Amino acid sequence: MIRPLKKAVLPVAGLGTRFLPATKAMPKEMLPVVDKPLIQYAIDEAREAGIEEFCLVTGRGKDSLIDYFDIAFELEATLKERGKKSALEAIQQSSVRAGSLVAVRQQEPLGLGHAIWCARSFIGNDPFAILLPDDVVKSGRSCVAQLVDAYNQTGGNVVAVTEVPHEHTNRYGILDTGSDDGKLVEVKGLVEKPDPKDAPSNLSIIGRYVMMPEIMEHLSKLEKGAGGEVQLTDAMAKMIGHVPFHGLRYEGTRFDCGDKAGFLEAQIALSIDRPDLGGAVKEFLKKYVNQI
Ligand code: UTP
Repeated sequence: MIRPLKKAVLPVAGLGTRFLPATKAMPKEMLPVVDKPLIQYAIDEAREAGIEEFCLVTGRGKDSLIDYFDIAFELEATLKERGKKSALEAIQQSSVRAGSLVAVRQQEPLGLGHAIWCARSFIGNDPFAILLPDDVVKSGRSCVAQLVDAYNQTGGNVVAVTEVPHEHTNRYGILDTGSDDGKLVEVKGLVEKPDPKDAPSNLSIIGRYVMMPEIMEHLSKLEKGAGGEVQLTDAMAKMIGHVPFHGLRYEGTRFDCGDKAGFLEAQIALSIDRPDLGGAVKEFLKKYVNQI
């Protein structure tokens, strides 16, 4: 029987060095794309997939991420008093159900695999989703919901994948593929950041995963991989052949907001079709394009 998927882990303990100095006193995951912080996009996407329990893996200086999900009583009262209905709705939508969000600490940023392992007590023996808030996915149906659909069909690990230019394989986790129906791809192998000449394909994993709890056994060995970090990809690779394992070509567009250019693109992509902003965005884009 396929176990229902109700839990998600969101690792947010990284140092965010690519956004210094902005991230000196503020978590990267609190950076806003238009008017919502990155963390809120990830939580909303997970909720749309029916996920009810969230675990943030945090570290030093990341407490504002937890505070963000509190109810802001004074602010709500002031907004009510002033009749600011849409602002009130916006903050009410951003809080979560009491007791549904927990935080665990990763004392040292030893890698993504280590961060996930820090959530082992929260996971216990349940399947779970992982969302890296750096990746924002614009899609009709939530990307995690698409993964959950695939999990309900296959009963094993599912990772969201997208094609990347061959010369960029050394930036991502890359799949070695088996059978492929154009949407769901069997995973035969996984390599972290391979040199383009050694890459088995150009299908790259994005920051959305559905994992079986057995991943924790592999992570518990805390073996260091690429860059001297405990890599999630290495632990996932050990599960191939033991649990069903697939890549899903999800429908949607991913923006890598951990990278400055990706972050800027997301600001435009997520505002250009908004009724309140689209017109202004198109106007200034025209102005800047004319200057090129
Ligand atoms: P990144 O590779 O983007 O690292 O982590 P980073 O530290 O956040 O950012 P840069 O590269 O220094 O600018 C990918 C995801 O894994 C989490 C990060 O918070 C991010 O969500 N992570 C990474 C951890 O939680 N712990 C780690 O030890 C490493």
